[in-house]
Amino acid sequence: MILFKKAEDLHIYLEKQRKSGKKYGFVPTMGALHAGHISLIEASRKTNDLTVCSIFINPTQFNDPSDFEKYPVTLEEDITKLHLANCDIVFQPRVAEMYPDGTNVFRRYDLGYLEQILEGTYRPGHFQGVCAIVHRLLEIVNPDHLYIGQKDYQQCMVIKKLIEMIGKESLIRLHISPTLREPDGLAMSSRNSRLSSGERKKATGIFQALLFVKENIAPGDLRSLKKVAATKLSEEGFKVDYVEVAAAESLQLTEHWDGKEKLVVLAAAYLNEVRLIDNLLVT
Ligand code: PAJ
Repeated sequence: MILFKKAEDLHIYLEKQRKSGKKYGFVPTMGALHAGHISLIEASRKTNDLTVCSIFINPTQFNDPSDFEKYPVTLEEDITKLHLANCDIVFQPRVAEMYPDGTNVFRRYDLGYLEQILEGTYRPGHFQGVCAIVHRLLEIVNPDHLYIGQKDYQQCMVIKKLIEMIGKESLIRLHISPTLREPDGLAMSSRNSRLSSGERKKATGIFQALLFVKENIAPGDLRSLKKVAATKLSEEGFKVDYVEVAAAESLQLTEHWDGKEKLVVLAAAYLNEVRLIDNLLVT
């Protein structure tokens, strides 16, 4: 496994690999790696000659400064996990390497409706930061295949739109991997390590709330079902940002279901300081 810190060195290395006919897959991460991240590495290894993983805690996507400060950093363990997963290349740049002109000046991405709902509402500016870093990473890495997780459903749609906006849809194939979960259903997340043992026990509530909506959904009005799920979460000690149902393809929020459209149920809620998000597809 080769570790790169400089964007230019990585770019030159990868272009050489491309010229020798190698295909490569890319897994962008913010580190504090868990089995969910490793599943993306495994997916990439199945179809590519080389797998590149980046570890970069991107400051511009944190709307809450304390979330950024407390984001878990486990670099040595991350490198070991990537090595054991047979990842070929790790890119671990510094902030100045990714934002040579500083973190305040970057292009605005027109995400339209996608930025005005759910995470867009509760984390203003978050997706602009995601687009800024993913765009920069894609220019450096220029992968054939890009691997991201369904765990961040709205982010998947944002990245798909970004790839279209930067004219790379015919060059980069996007793969969305299923969410890996703990035995009690809690979606694996780097932020789970910040939960106390009491909070960790409660945290499965968010998955249970999504499951409750998925199992009880029926054609017709969805408002009372969403409300019951949100109330359950509040009663369990969560501070709820949203429990929502949306069309799986467009993420258009839905209050009335025709019984046919493919849906996704999404939730975001805090357990004290830690914000958790999750989603389930309803097919
Ligand atoms: P991070 O939260 O580290 O996640 C990196 C990738 O792992 C994302 O595509 C995410 O959806 C996926 N992932 C997280 N938890 C998962 C799980 N339980 N099962 C499967 N996949 C999972 O998402 C980011 O970083 C950043 O926003 C990034 C795209 C790297 C841009 O900074």
